[in-house]
Amino acid sequence: MITVSEQEKVFHLNNGRISYIFYVMESGQLGHLYFGKALNRDADYLHMVETAYRPMSTYMTEGDMYHSYEHLRQEYPGFGTSDYRYPAVEVSGPDGSSLVKPQYQGFRILEGKKPLPGLPATYVEEPGEASTVEISMRDDWLGLALILSYTIFRDFDAVARSVRFVNHSKTPLFIGRAMSMSVDFADADYESVQLSGAWARERYVQVRSLGPGVTSVSSMRGHSSHHHNPFLALKRKNTTEQSGEAYGFSLLYSGNFLAQAEVDNYNVLRVTMGINPFGFRWKLEPGAEFVTPEAVTVYSEEGLNGMSRQFHRLYRTRLARGFWRDRERPVLINNWEATNFTYTEEDLLRFAKTAAECGIELFVLDDGWFGNRNDDMSGLGDWTANRQKLPHGIEGLAEKIGAMGMKFGLWFEPEMVNRDSDLFRAHPDYIIQTPGRSVSHGRNQFVLDFSRREVVDAIYVQLYEILSKARISYIKWDMNRSISECYSAAYPPERQGEIYHRYILGVYELHERLITAFPKLLIESCSSGGGRFDAGMLYYAPQGWVSDDSDAIERTKIQYGTSYVYPLSCMGAHVSACPNDQVGRITPFETRANVAFTGAFGYELDLNRLSEEEIALVKRQVEFYKKNRSLFAKGDFYRLISPFEENFAAWEAAEPDGQRAFVTVTRILSEVNGPYRRLRLCGLCPDRKYRIRGKYLSYEAYGDELMQFGMRLEDKSSGQVIDGSGHCEDFCSDLYEITAV
Ligand code: DGJ
Repeated sequence: MITVSEQEKVFHLNNGRISYIFYVMESGQLGHLYFGKALNRDADYLHMVETAYRPMSTYMTEGDMYHSYEHLRQEYPGFGTSDYRYPAVEVSGPDGSSLVKPQYQGFRILEGKKPLPGLPATYVEEPGEASTVEISMRDDWLGLALILSYTIFRDFDAVARSVRFVNHSKTPLFIGRAMSMSVDFADADYESVQLSGAWARERYVQVRSLGPGVTSVSSMRGHSSHHHNPFLALKRKNTTEQSGEAYGFSLLYSGNFLAQAEVDNYNVLRVTMGINPFGFRWKLEPGAEFVTPEAVTVYSEEGLNGMSRQFHRLYRTRLARGFWRDRERPVLINNWEATNFTYTEEDLLRFAKTAAECGIELFVLDDGWFGNRNDDMSGLGDWTANRQKLPHGIEGLAEKIGAMGMKFGLWFEPEMVNRDSDLFRAHPDYIIQTPGRSVSHGRNQFVLDFSRREVVDAIYVQLYEILSKARISYIKWDMNRSISECYSAAYPPERQGEIYHRYILGVYELHERLITAFPKLLIESCSSGGGRFDAGMLYYAPQGWVSDDSDAIERTKIQYGTSYVYPLSCMGAHVSACPNDQVGRITPFETRANVAFTGAFGYELDLNRLSEEEIALVKRQVEFYKKNRSLFAKGDFYRLISPFEENFAAWEAAEPDGQRAFVTVTRILSEVNGPYRRLRLCGLCPDRKYRIRGKYLSYEAYGDELMQFGMRLEDKSSGQVIDGSGHCEDFCSDLYEITAV
């Protein structure tokens, strides 16, 4: 999959569907040639290099008025040269200069892909799945080596990149910027797509036209954030969900990040992605190494859906790991929205009994079970059962839940502490705070300094104790505030720029230790909903709570946006009570389930408050999901109608061989006497006949008709209700099953 023309030093990564091509410039820097649909392996493509004499440019060698880094498309640009765009790397040496001019030294090709120490990374399982080329660069003046790693996959249209920095000098170097990837596209006629929002409206799809200058998304909050996801896509103006060119860039990282598209004044586009350089300064001692997080770049000519399918397949099978990766996820019930902090053991058991009768498989006890935790003022950091609420402890409760035939899961917020806790009283110095300055709180809590090994150890010991004593099959790992006043008491002044990154390394380490000690533990990540819903977390926690907004209509947008990168198997999606906790909206019970089926399904309400009719519905929903969950989790996902653009949301999950599919159509507001509607489906076999089953609708049609003319909808607003019984109401949804006959 990787060819190198030794003479011209052109590197061509090609898996038969995509090509990624770069070369070594005469000056020794790496130049970018092409990324996109696969090109012939025989050409050298050096004629793609474009440069010209342009006044007011600066040139590399005297007498030459032609070669300027400003006009050469680059691969991993240094800093302080004749290139005036944002660099990929900035390092300062002992003389105080920050000039970095990495020069090509050599390369090696490896079968497969190496793990990244202490960081999440995609991986391979069998020989032949991927090839990696490592390019060695060096700035001799600084004594800095950069090893650029590129992996191309046989089965995914993706290139994974990361960079290793090594200090070969005798003095410390300071890294100010260490992007995971950088690539210069030959033109900038793209729109950028980002997933942005805020708490309870995470990952809304935002499209912007690129223009001269910088378009970026980033986080400075210490976690990837509700506000911007570590992701960026580029699409042509005519690219749709189903067709056209799309590039996706995703960072496997859960801390401060930057994803940036810079259009220069010659219409060249530079995309860079990595740790946010703002607030980052890493001291690299002689002989030491620093490894950047991994960035994954995907190309598709099948529109944004094509891009997403590449991410889904790669992340579901070669980023998520362990016992739960391919297993069906249990239908769960979580008590948070039903009880908040206030409950007794009897309440929980009553709650669980009904859940077990409904066929629910996992009971999750959320916040409030530990320490002196009756509200959000106290208790975080003390991970032992609150005996007033749980007289038999977690072991006792877990046993009783187990006897009902359900697994037991528990909420933790390992990275946080309240002032009113035994942990804080014993170790007030364990929190992140700047000495001599006031410290901000979020939800009355403080962030434990996970850059310190002893702090991570102190939490690990507590978690280990409880997880090894009680029968706990699942944990919900929450994280409910951002970092502020970032400073660690354990590090010297010149290392304070490392703390944000070291913090995330500590979070990853604790995850790794837990899944090593308890390999069958299912971890669901959470951060006030989706505040750390990123590809980095997926390596440790195969599912994540998508958002604290559990309203079905809001969820059509949130899940629609989330699906741009993340597979359905990882999206925690629950049916909750109405009026909804966050928006006060009342939606049909059926709609709530239809939307939640396209995720890791569960409930977030007190079943004992439901009517008999609703309980019967819950039983049917649970049964339905158990029967079909593997199609939802492992099928190919297609977004069909965007709730950001229409009064509808529609999506489809289809078996990869096109034999069976489910289509979910949610109408937001009711319409009166609306038009006839059809929905063009995807991923079916054109020559196969299918049976279409909706609530009222049942007919047969060939795949080509369903994909070209469309599937009829039983939308009540368009006068097509088969039995004439449906009245038109807001927030209706329909679920259609399409089966090859
Ligand atoms: C925020 C989470 O997103 C909720 O689901 C819940 O676990 C609360 N924290 C508990 O404090």
